[in-house]
Amino acid sequence: MRKIIIAIDGFSSCGKSTLAKDLAKKLHYRYMDSGAMYRAVTYYLMTHKIDYTEIEKVKEALQHIHIDFHFNKETKNSDTYLNDVNVEEKIRGMDVSQHVSNVSTIKEVRYAMVAQQKKMGKQKAIVMDGRDIGTAVFPDADLKLFMTANHEIRAQRRFKELQAKGEDVTMDEVVQNLAERDHIDSTRKESPLMQAEDAIVLDNSHLTKEAQMEFVYNLVMEKKLMEESVE
Ligand code: DC
Repeated sequence: MRKIIIAIDGFSSCGKSTLAKDLAKKLHYRYMDSGAMYRAVTYYLMTHKIDYTEIEKVKEALQHIHIDFHFNKETKNSDTYLNDVNVEEKIRGMDVSQHVSNVSTIKEVRYAMVAQQKKMGKQKAIVMDGRDIGTAVFPDADLKLFMTANHEIRAQRRFKELQAKGEDVTMDEVVQNLAERDHIDSTRKESPLMQAEDAIVLDNSHLTKEAQMEFVYNLVMEKKLMEESVE
């Protein structure tokens, strides 16, 4: 069957990466977490004490940032590497979450990340999740999903995730962080988060993981068959 590109966009903590990872496994496709790249840049700036409002310094820093992904045999997921160091755990914490939306508004940061993401899509057979995948990175993606979930459910999911990692964080802080990121991500000038015209909306507030997968897998199968019959 023909290989396709699947773009999954949506707000923070809507379950995009869980779905994208599971789908990639099921299809034997590659999974690319574009948010991890913005997180890795943010982590680099934080650890090098670079103020993200100083654009010249950020541009210089981008020359020294190399991000890639390697399969982790233990977790069976791909881990994010920043300059050959595994930063998978470090980029998921609340400290990075507090700055990442601001860093990802920077035009130069976006250009650098989007260029790398486009390269990763060249061979197709990829599931990529983020905020601008269906609109800016792969506007011609074969299947575009736009995920949403109700605010409370998103906050609870994120809170549980952080707690499981042993982070000392309150529910209020999580709610506030999600609201702030939603606002920055969807109102920024450079490729803001928005639903692509041809995206299919998936509200998973009350869907089980299995029901959600069945829905999406059926869409993928329809898409692949449709393309085969066109060829
Ligand atoms: O998916 P995530 O929550 O790990 O993403 C972290 C941040 O990165 C998010 O607040 C906005 C930014 N981001 C982006 O601007 N564009 C993307 N394609 C992916 C993430």
